[in-house]
Parts: sequence; structure tokens; C-alpha cells
Amino acid sequence: MPKGVVRKALEGFRPYVPGEQPPDGEGWIKLNTNESPLPPSPKVLAAIKAAADESLRLYPSATARPAREAIARHFGLDPSRVAVGNGGDELIDLCFTAFAGPGETVAYPMPTYPLFDPLCRIHEARASTHPTETFDELPPSLGADPARLKFIVNPNSPTGALFDAQDVEAVVTASSGVVVVDEAYVDFAPRSAVDLLERHGNVLILRTFSKSYALAGMRVGFALGAPELIEALDSVKDSYNVDRLAVVAAVAAIEDDSYHQALVDEVVRNRGELASALAELGFEVVPSATNFVFARPPKPAFEVATALRERKILVRHYDRDPIAGWIRVTVGTREQHDKLLAALKEIL
Ligand SMILES: Cc1ncc(COP(=O)(O)O)c(C=O)c1O
Repeated sequence: MPKGVVRKALEGFRPYVPGEQPPDGEGWIKLNTNESPLPPSPKVLAAIKAAADESLRLYPSATARPAREAIARHFGLDPSRVAVGNGGDELIDLCFTAFAGPGETVAYPMPTYPLFDPLCRIHEARASTHPTETFDELPPSLGADPARLKFIVNPNSPTGALFDAQDVEAVVTASSGVVVVDEAYVDFAPRSAVDLLERHGNVLILRTFSKSYALAGMRVGFALGAPELIEALDSVKDSYNVDRLAVVAAVAAIEDDSYHQALVDEVVRNRGELASALAELGFEVVPSATNFVFARPPKPAFEVATALRERKILVRHYDRDPIAGWIRVTVGTREQHDKLLAALKEIL
């Protein structure tokens, strides 16, 4: 970008870099962006196909109403407590727009989802980061931070670790601002923080259809919270932020409980196998409550990731402290794991 074109606050800005997305159909094994190794429910695919008709000339519902209502039914909540977004990422961005602007503080543990840092820059908010001592413990300083907005990714990414439920609630109780519990991966975990909604008006629970519903390509996520918080998110969103097909997909997905459960069960089973196999190869493995495994290889992470890429296998590696030397591997199918493990044996 030519110098002087971007606004002053963005000079030297380092954007969030999403995981590599190679062209479809070229034989890559994608274990780098935590997509589902299994396809979406056949009912979802049928609903999307049926909705691809002449009605696409019309805008979608501005509130994604059918999706809001289906999600509300699923959680036993009033639809006024549900916001729907163009992926969880849009909802995170809307939280900044609605709750923390220029000069205001946004707090989160470190390491965590690397989207928060660039969003702080974009929104000119001040990042207040709280280093974790161990991957599965929330930093005690987070609760006392007077930030207007806090994020707790639970289970966390990229570590896969699950923070204690009482510690999460303690942060919510101690905070006067909004606390977003990003539960993008919670369906693979033993518990959720959704019950916090009964006791706290300052908490938003964030979910996505990208992982456990196998719909990363549809871009749809949702937030649950007090009607005032949902109204605040809605008031700053684009008019038609969720398209017609995404709305239809979200409804069909959340209504197909049995398919969803079978997908989660298979991923959890494969996760156990992958974690054990990596440990046998000499990796240090963090117990995972997600659809990925965070592990430190016995060789430099960059070398391992590069050698895997040469074999058309993509994983994510990290080169910045405190997670320099670690890689994150999305749980795949057994067949994908066999290829990954065979490649790792060669590389190591
Ligand atoms: C921690 C976390 N939150 C939110 C998201 C958002 O996902 P999406 O925008 O696909 O719904 C992701 C995606 O990888 C994530 O890792």
C-alpha cells in the first residue's frame, strides 16, 4: 500500500493473517484452519439447494430472523437474546464497534486468538493483555482490569486448553464492562459457560457454525446475551450481514441435533488418537477440548510445518513467544492422520 494512504492509526499495521486456503481439489490435506473434516449434514445441503432459487433477487431478513428464532429455540431463550453474524469474526468486530472505541481498553489473556490485536489497532482501542502462567489457567489479573470489553476464548485457541468455569465466572462478576466468552470450539469440550446468561447481564456467549456444524464456507455465527447487548450489536451491524443461504443453513444445522452429535463424537474420538500418536512421536501435547491439537515437536516448528507443506499437508506453526516452537494441528479423518503421521515419521 502506498505510504500515506492509510489513516495514521494504521501506519505499520500488521493485519491478521488467516491460514492458507489452497484451491479446492488439488489434494491438499488441510489441518491448518480448524475446519470440520466431515461434511455438513445432508439436511443442511438439501436446504441450501432448495433455497437457491429466484428469491435470491431479494435481500435477506435484516435480522436473519429464521436463524435467530431457531437458535433461540435450541437454547430455550427469547429471540431478543440472539444476534446472528457473518461468522463469529464479524460478531467479534461488532463487539469492538459497539463496546470499545478509540482510546478505550480491551483486555484478554495471552496467548489467545490472534485476531484481537489487529482489531484493537483497527478500532484504535488499547490492548491490555494478560499472560497466562499455564495454558489452562486464566490470569488472575484479568478480572480486576477495568477494560470496557474483555474476551475469554474458552476452550482457548491456539492452545486447545479449557479454563475453569468458576474462574471464567469470577472474571464476569469482577467486570463492569462486557465480557465475551468466545465458545467457537465449545461443542468439543465437556462444558459451556452458557448458564452464565442466567446470572449475568454483562456476558456475551459467542458461537460459530464453522467448526462443529461443518459450515465454515457459509460464514455464520451467533451471540447470546442480554437483550440490551444484542440490541447494541444489531445497531452497529451492516443491514444485511447474513445472506439468505447462510440463514437457511443455520436453521437446518441447528435443528439436526443427531448429525451434529455424531460429527462431534467422531472428531473427539479422532482427537484422542491424534494426540496419542503425536505424543508417541515425541511431541509435547496439550490436552485439547477443541477440534485441534496443540503440540510442540521435537524439532523446530517452522521446519516441521515447512516439510509437511512440501508433502501437501498444512498445519499452523507459531514463532512468537510464548508459543514459539509449537504447532496446531486440526483434527482430521483417520485417513488424513495416517498420512500426517507417516510424513512426520519421515521428517523427524
Ligand atoms: C477463537 C475463535 N473465535 C472465533 C472464530 C470465528 O470463526 P468464524 O468467523 O468462522 O465463525 C474462530 C475461527 O477460527 C476462532 O478460532
